[in-house]
Amino acid sequence: MQDLAGKVAVITGGASGIGFALATALSGEGMQVVLADIEHAALDAAVQGLQAGGATVSGQICDVSDAASVEALAEAVYARHGATHLLCNNAGVFTGGLCWEASEADYRWVLGVNLGGVVNGIRAFVPRMIAGGAQGHVLNVASMAGLTATPFAGVYHTSKHAVVGLSECLFHDLSLQAPQIGVSLICPEMIRTGIGHSDRNRPASLSATGDVPQTDARHFVEETIKQAALAGLDPAVIAQRSVKAIRENRFYVLAEDSWMDLARGRMDDILMGRNPVLRAPG
Ligand SMILES: NC(=O)c1ccc[n+]([C@@H]2O[C@H](COP(=O)([O-])OP(=O)(O)OC[C@H]3O[C@@H](n4cnc5c(N)ncnc54)[C@H](O)[C@@H]3O)[C@@H](O)[C@H]2O)c1
Repeated sequence: MQDLAGKVAVITGGASGIGFALATALSGEGMQVVLADIEHAALDAAVQGLQAGGATVSGQICDVSDAASVEALAEAVYARHGATHLLCNNAGVFTGGLCWEASEADYRWVLGVNLGGVVNGIRAFVPRMIAGGAQGHVLNVASMAGLTATPFAGVYHTSKHAVVGLSECLFHDLSLQAPQIGVSLICPEMIRTGIGHSDRNRPASLSATGDVPQTDARHFVEETIKQAALAGLDPAVIAQRSVKAIRENRFYVLAEDSWMDLARGRMDDILMGRNPVLRAPG
């Protein structure tokens, strides 16, 4: 999709981090932007901040893990704008821990947001985008965690591997049935965002205090993510990479650091039929 100005973009998880950077970049391209997020105060601040800069932007509270909430988002966007040209499935959360120590609530929360959010976004918006007949694009934010496997973060890796597979299938489905709609899969390295503090949006029904064990492995990896995010890239870099990929209709948008060595190494392990080799980034 070459011409962005005047078109409509919907960004889940748009109130902070990579989503907010995408909103800033896309409104800078002249797009009308709808931010969807679960965090009220951050959403209000994001919308007001962008409006103050002259952007055409609105916000809607939405829980991407809830199909009805995403359907309500789509209905509101089409009532207000009559179209969606760019859907950014970006909302995501992180939790750590050994695969067998992570609780059922951990799996339900992380898979519900990271995978369920993308599924719900595709199901609510893509049929409407196809029916609209215009050129469009779906941008799914996965992670290099979707192309690699590291210890103590199995729940998150599982969700992101699923998003990679789903996005590749979506690419093929749209190529055959609606080639006017492109797909990009964004797999960032470590980025300076609030991902290490994902618990702030964890619902009480999937409580972090109930059956969630505070183990050494969980503590270690969650602290590591907090520190790594602090030292991570500016989210604006990912936003610029994304805008370029949308314009070039490019699917894979991967990291530009040592995470690529991990992804290559894992693919070599698979193709050579050897057991997974433990590798660490950077
Ligand atoms: N930060 C990194 O290093 C990094 C690396 C690779 C991939 N990612 C991915 O980038 C995406 C954005 O994360 P971020 O790093 O900007 O983190 P962030 O915490 O700064 O932003 C995530 C946003 O998602 C929102 N959100 C959380 N749960 C939600 C829900 N149920 N419904 C709607 N919105 C919800 C949050 O309120 C927040 O605004 C995620 O999918 C994440 O997995 C991040």
